[in-house]
Amino acid sequence: MSLTSVDPASSEKRSDEPLLRVENLTKYFPIRSGILLQREVARVHAVEDVSFSIHPGETVGLVGESGCGKSTTARLVTRLLDPTSGKITFEGRDITKTSQRELRPVRRDMQIIFQDPYASLNPRQTIGQIVGAPFRIHKTEGDTKKKVQDLMERTGLNPEHYNRYPHEFSGGQRQRIGVARALALRPKLIVCDEPVSALDVSIQAQILNLLEDLQDEFNLTYLFISHDLGVVRHVSDRIAVMYLGRVVEVAGADELYENPKHPYTAALLSAVPKEHSDTSISERIVLQGDVPSPVDPPSGCSFHPRCPKARAVMGKSVQLTSEQAEGGQVSLEEAAARTAARDGDDRSVDLSQEVPENCRKEIPPLGEVQKEHFTACWYPLEEGEKLQQAAKA
Ligand SMILES: Nc1ncnc2c1ncn2[C@@H]1O[C@H](COP(=O)(O)OP(=O)(O)OP(=O)(O)O)[C@@H](O)[C@H]1O
Ligand code: SF4
Ligand SMILES: [Mg+2]
Repeated sequence: MSLTSVDPASSEKRSDEPLLRVENLTKYFPIRSGILLQREVARVHAVEDVSFSIHPGETVGLVGESGCGKSTTARLVTRLLDPTSGKITFEGRDITKTSQRELRPVRRDMQIIFQDPYASLNPRQTIGQIVGAPFRIHKTEGDTKKKVQDLMERTGLNPEHYNRYPHEFSGGQRQRIGVARALALRPKLIVCDEPVSALDVSIQAQILNLLEDLQDEFNLTYLFISHDLGVVRHVSDRIAVMYLGRVVEVAGADELYENPKHPYTAALLSAVPKEHSDTSISERIVLQGDVPSPVDPPSGCSFHPRCPKARAVMGKSVQLTSEQAEGGQVSLEEAAARTAARDGDDRSVDLSQEVPENCRKEIPPLGEVQKEHFTACWYPLEEGEKLQQAAKA
């Protein structure tokens, strides 16, 4: 399988321009030490070389384990954080370095919904004040109270509760308040950062349905973030999978489920309860070892210390070698080289190591392995390939 290095942000052959394009986005958080001179002693590699795009009316899901950089990506694309490097283009305009004053009109078109609806609502303000704030900040004309009550009604809240405070609402209702506030200025893009993670499952479905209905009604585009692949699959047209600050796979939602190419995606999918998925991965792939620290990510492919595929690549070589060596004719290295040649694979395999050298030393580019299916892996999974071997801790 060939791996051509293509930027998924630029290779999509859609006629419409992306609403949001992110290219090589990187964010490091400095770790400082010292009493007087706060010297930078290390960096958290929160987001590293991330590229993707979102087209008008599309929902792109962003998934990955806790700490992999999802929220940082959300804050970067909405310019709540400044990137270390990379480029953010919104509606064809480069907004990477736009000043906060110049960003004001852009902010109307770009909103964010947070995970914890309670923490993101000021407890001392009424719902009327909270949902009405965007109208006041942007000095819009018309009857603010009427507009707020219309929004409350549209998002499933009782408009008569205009003067109530956040603590008087349930978790699901509070998230509806967050949605109403995000919707106030009729944005084009809403970044939903784990909008249902804090809610009961039954309430989750209600909020997801609300977001879906609003998307149709207001022609919204979503970047939908979650650590839950089941939820993301439900709402997304395309899904990007993150691991340790990097996007390791991007594909259409159905394609990603049915034909994951990256071993990490396969492991994530294998953990989704079967009633919530129709993934091709039938057996649970248990990854051993913890997610490495983003302060000092592993060399090469950062998944290599936990990757079952990398070990299978080596295991396969040894197994075939022993078969061929039955006649006592060839050395292990020679047989491995012959196997690689037979498979049309010119990547050399060092049998003294547990993981192939390129996995350990070279960062795999996000390459197009199938039409509009991108993965960052030197040995992408074949269709239906079984991957059960757990990596050593
Ligand atoms: N302001 C900050 N200063 C230093 N490190 C930070 C800061 N914000 C985030 N990080 C670190 O950056 C990494 C990515 O964090 P981020 O919150 O983006 O992850 P996440 O994928 O949203 O996780 P979760 O699923 O838990 O919300 C983490 O290691 C986190 O500790
Ligand atoms: S590049 Fe190597 S270590 Fe990384 S996911 Fe692919 S097989 Fe595993
Ligand atoms: Mg987060």
